[in-house]
Amino acid sequence: MSARFAITPLTKAHKRADFTCGNDRIDNYFRETVSQDVKRRFATCFVAVEIASERVAGFYTLSSSNVPLIDVPALLAKKLPRYPTVPAVLIGWLGRHRDFAGLGLGEALLYDAVKTVASGQIGAHAIFADAIDDQAVAFYAAFGFVPLAERPRTLYLPVATALALISP
Ligand SMILES: CC(C)(COP(=O)(O)OP(=O)(O)OC[C@H]1O[C@@H](n2cnc3c(N)ncnc32)[C@H](O)[C@@H]1OP(=O)(O)O)[C@@H](O)C(=O)NCCC(=O)NCCS
Repeated sequence: MSARFAITPLTKAHKRADFTCGNDRIDNYFRETVSQDVKRRFATCFVAVEIASERVAGFYTLSSSNVPLIDVPALLAKKLPRYPTVPAVLIGWLGRHRDFAGLGLGEALLYDAVKTVASGQIGAHAIFADAIDDQAVAFYAAFGFVPLAERPRTLYLPVATALALISP
């Protein structure tokens, strides 16, 4: 992503009414619901804004959550303490406006999410997401996210692995 965009926390000044990523559920959530979730501290939301036009080009949300240890793939789970759950952050929603396709914005949003989680002051071993469809599964898988056991549409990545991908 170039200096054309800036990723910042969502504020009331950001215009959400025309956001269109191609998935109605994601569009409706961003247009109508996200600000309530932020207000209630159910999620934080970050937006990629085109600096010149001030248009919202993409967004993601993060929420505190956890993953049952039994759902973590065996190869990853064997190095973890035997607590019943793994502290993790959920990427609840992620979308890129269709007017800004082909610019690497999805990747930039995902990397920003990883950095936000990694720089937080609260322990989170992994980052995970519920993919909305098979294309979203493929998107996350392209970055090394792996499906949880018995939950093929929930994609999981240890934060340390994600950081190594960003800064090899
Ligand atoms: C998924 C989404 C965010 C991707 O955004 P994007 O701007 O197209 O992503 P990028 O251009 O940064 O793609 C980065 C890399 O991701 C991978 N990728 C992107 N979309 C992919 C897909 N559908 N399948 C497989 N890989 C994909 C590619 O490897 C791509 O790298 P490339 O340069 O080699 O092509 C966007 O398509 C979108 O908003 N879709 C609708 C909502 C959605 O599915 N959200 C996902 C969370 S549920």
